[in-house]
Amino acid sequence: MSSINYAEKIPNNVNLTNDRTLQRALEHWQPAFRNWWHEMGPTDFEKADVYLRTAISVDAQGWAHYGNVKMPDYRWGIFLADPVADRRIGFGDQMGQPVWQQVPGEYRSTLRRLIVTQGDTEPASVEQQRMLGHTCPSMYDLRNLFQINVEEGRHLWAMVYLLHAYFGRDGREEAEELLERHSGDADKPRILTTFNEPMTDWLSLYCFTYFTDRDGKYQLKSFAESAFDPLSRTCRFMLTEEAHHMFVGETGISRVVKRTLELMKEHGTDDPEVVRRHGGVDLPTLQKYLNFWCSSSLDLFGSEISSNSASNFASGMKGRPDETTYEDHVLRGKTIQLATPEGEQEVPMLNALNEVMRESYLKDCEIGLKRWNRMIERAGHDLRLTLPSSRFRRSIGPWAGVPVDTHGRMIPRHEYEQRLEDWIPSERDRAHVLSLMQRVIEPGKMAGWIAPPERGINNLAVDYEYVHLH
Ligand SMILES: [Fe+2]
Ligand SMILES: [Fe+2]
Repeated sequence: MSSINYAEKIPNNVNLTNDRTLQRALEHWQPAFRNWWHEMGPTDFEKADVYLRTAISVDAQGWAHYGNVKMPDYRWGIFLADPVADRRIGFGDQMGQPVWQQVPGEYRSTLRRLIVTQGDTEPASVEQQRMLGHTCPSMYDLRNLFQINVEEGRHLWAMVYLLHAYFGRDGREEAEELLERHSGDADKPRILTTFNEPMTDWLSLYCFTYFTDRDGKYQLKSFAESAFDPLSRTCRFMLTEEAHHMFVGETGISRVVKRTLELMKEHGTDDPEVVRRHGGVDLPTLQKYLNFWCSSSLDLFGSEISSNSASNFASGMKGRPDETTYEDHVLRGKTIQLATPEGEQEVPMLNALNEVMRESYLKDCEIGLKRWNRMIERAGHDLRLTLPSSRFRRSIGPWAGVPVDTHGRMIPRHEYEQRLEDWIPSERDRAHVLSLMQRVIEPGKMAGWIAPPERGINNLAVDYEYVHLH
């Protein structure tokens, strides 16, 4: 186990002191990062003491320390999972050969692009969420938001380390640009559409952490398989932190469902309007938020048919999540049937890996749906929450712009446009959800639209004062 050196300016377990040039370059980037945090991070909470976890080792048992920290003083550092002795490439045309400790010249620009695209999402989500502190439904939730924010900041550090350490001058320039693009900026937006969507309410935050952070999980899992070993080790440790982000999403939505069912019981009705009038999120509105964020996140996997996915896999740069669970790791000569608007197409498996990933992602998404539907069923209601078809509302791939309903059926365009308001949040739905966003910060108290969590953080009580506001 390698422990983390906290005496240094940049906590790390990569022996930064032994590489003065790299250390200086990163210490030069650090004030720019802090400045970005100050300007684009959570607004108005810089003086608050927040009960946060900080990574102190990459050991599976006890990798984190919990304590009160002011966010600008958070110790963002560089932590890689321990190396695996004699690690070999696990897939693609170079399967069985030793993994790479340096970037092979022919893959340099592609690998850099993959790392920059991943890196861009991390600060983007912090920017998207920067106003949410003002409308938190509880102090517990406020703390969780900030925990996610500082860890996304650390994930940016993780990618910037790779850029600085392995991509020379180009990498340093990319690292600077990661702080210059901003979510939703008209001139310099973030790279991926989902990370430019405005986020003005906590229901969106829970959906984002459920669906979009889960896309993150799948991207990290596929990089964890990479033949480029420093990328693999970096992503393996990031996955440890990512689990909490999805936990916030899954339990957040569970708590909304729970509270809504309570309101339905209290007022003896499943009428959405009654639920709304009593300050709840009615289930049809929740369904629309699920449709919106799920379909937006599905685009992040890329086109169903992709020559990039083929070359990234064949070269060993990016594997499938949980690569060892598959039987064939080379995939030459394999094909798959894909449904496109023009009908079934036989496609080389290598070119369909984005779709393979998207399918396993959707299976993972089903887990929460089952839990929420069990709650609804036990409460005696017929409605069931569902995931939209992966063809619905796509803007990338063969289904991009094709009018399709949430079940994946092609319908006339005018019908699609008419019914879109039934499937994703309308202005009225958004206005209602926004009207519920009133800040609650008394320890242990919850906003009326969400049930309390089952337990607190790190074995503390739910009513613990997780954030000291001064
Ligand atoms: Fe992240
Ligand atoms: Fe995350």
